[in-house]
Amino acid sequence: MRSKSLILILIIALFSGCSYNSEDDLTEQVIIDNFVTYETNIKPIIDNNCIVCHNNPPVNGAPMSLTTFSNVVEAVENRNLIGRISATDGSVMPAGGPRLPQSLIDLVIQWVEEGLMEN
Ligand code: HEC
Repeated sequence: MRSKSLILILIIALFSGCSYNSEDDLTEQVIIDNFVTYETNIKPIIDNNCIVCHNNPPVNGAPMSLTTFSNVVEAVENRNLIGRISATDGSVMPAGGPRLPQSLIDLVIQWVEEGLMEN
C-alpha cells in the first residue's frame, strides 16, 4: 500500500513536471513565430519573385537591386515597394504579373508594420 502511493506520487510529479516544461516551450515558440523577419520570411519571397530582375546588378530594366536587407528596406522607404506589390493595375510588381498571393503581400506589410526586423 505504502509503495503504491509512493509510485502514484512519483507518477504525478513526473507528469506535472513534463507538462510544465512543454507549456514553457510552447509559449516561447508562439512569441518567436509572431514576428516577421527579413531573413526568415521576406528574403525568400524576394528571392523567388523579384531577383530574376532586381539582381545585383539589376537586369531587364529594373532600376535597383533587391539582394540585401538594406536594399529592400531602402525600397520600402523610398521606392514605394508596398504600393507596387499591392497594385492591381499594370504597375504591379513582379513586373508583368501575376500579382503575389495576398498572403505574401500581407506578410510584407506586417513586416513593415513591425519595424523592418532583420532577424
Ligand atoms: C520581370 C522583371 C521584374 C520583376 C520580376 C520584378 N520587377 Fe520590380 N521593376 C522592374 C522594372 C523594369 C522596374 C522599373 C519600371 C517600373 O517602375 O515599373 C521595376 C521597378 C520596381 C520598383 C520601383 C522602383 C522605383 O525606384 O520607382 C519597385 C519598388 C519594385 N520594382 C519592386 C519589385 C518587387 C518587390 C518585386 C518582387 C515582388 C519585383 N519588383 C519584381 C522589373 C521587375
